[in-house]
Amino acid sequence: MKERLQALQQEAVAKINEITDDLKQLNEIRISYLGKKGPITEVLKGMGALSAEERPKIGAIANEVRTVIQEKIEQKTKAIEEAIIQKKLASEAIDVTLPGRPQFLGSKHPLTIVIEEIEDLFIGMGYEIAEGPEVESDYFNFEMLNLPKGHPARDMQDSFYITEEILLRTHTSPVQARTMVGKKNKESFKIICPGKVFRRDDDDATHSHQFTQIEGLVVGENIRMSDLKGTLEVFAKKMFGPEREIRLRPSFFPFTEPSVEMDISCMMCAGNGCKTCKHTGWIEILGAGMVHPHVLEMAGYHSKKFSGFAFGMGPDRIAMLKYGIHDIRHFYTNDIRFLSQFKPSMD
Ligand code: PHE
Repeated sequence: MKERLQALQQEAVAKINEITDDLKQLNEIRISYLGKKGPITEVLKGMGALSAEERPKIGAIANEVRTVIQEKIEQKTKAIEEAIIQKKLASEAIDVTLPGRPQFLGSKHPLTIVIEEIEDLFIGMGYEIAEGPEVESDYFNFEMLNLPKGHPARDMQDSFYITEEILLRTHTSPVQARTMVGKKNKESFKIICPGKVFRRDDDDATHSHQFTQIEGLVVGENIRMSDLKGTLEVFAKKMFGPEREIRLRPSFFPFTEPSVEMDISCMMCAGNGCKTCKHTGWIEILGAGMVHPHVLEMAGYHSKKFSGFAFGMGPDRIAMLKYGIHDIRHFYTNDIRFLSQFKPSMD
């Protein structure tokens, strides 16, 4: 009987050892060897024929054989379960050393960069941002700015008319009139207005039928030409460098009186003369002037009590100077090779 039991143990252990990954098979072995109908139980049943002396010995051996098989199965079960987990972990593993896929980061349009810079500068001086429609009425684009129908200065701004009274705005100055009309209490204010404008120009390196402007308008009591000059000087130095000088030249706009054009000393040659400044040492940057009393009156402001100054500049031109861009059309043709050169700032 002893031999029989030992043979069973060997047989069972051999079968268990053969199993590599099948838990079901392992369970079958357990049932077939250790179950009620298994061979060990069978052997034990025959113990009645043994002597009282031998019985406990064989019983002990039988128990030992059971335990050995049981332990062997448990060990194997654990090993298989562990292997399953390891396999799963390996298949789900993330290689943290793999380089990530780069995300394509867009960049701001150069005009947006320049416009935001100018906005920040004027917001720092207490200005608010105003907006107006790109499809504008003749009334706000011209009439309210002292440019009645038939006025020769209208020819300076060849327009895209939609109807006789509606056009694409030719400048951001209508926002001046809109803002003044909109002030019900006729109080003081300071605004700048960035936006797109449109003129019937043939496109070339320096002309585009669509471009941008930034309008500035200050209305208040005792606003003087010196305020305008001081404001423009601060703007020029902050935008183009502290060593810039400004120069105001007399000019004409129907909605300002007196009117000026502002030049800055050329930043390329420090005023000595170069291609950029056409050998004059100066670069024209904007138009400006004191708001015409008639423009104030038309918008409901008493010109005896209130005065103001206005200016208008072109971010396209400023961006071209700042970044050394030689063709205005680059801003509007959306060539990714051009646009992606203006990397987003990390602030
Ligand atoms: N609107 C003028 C232009 O487009 C610029 C300007 C604005 C001039 C405000 C004076 C005051 O040419």
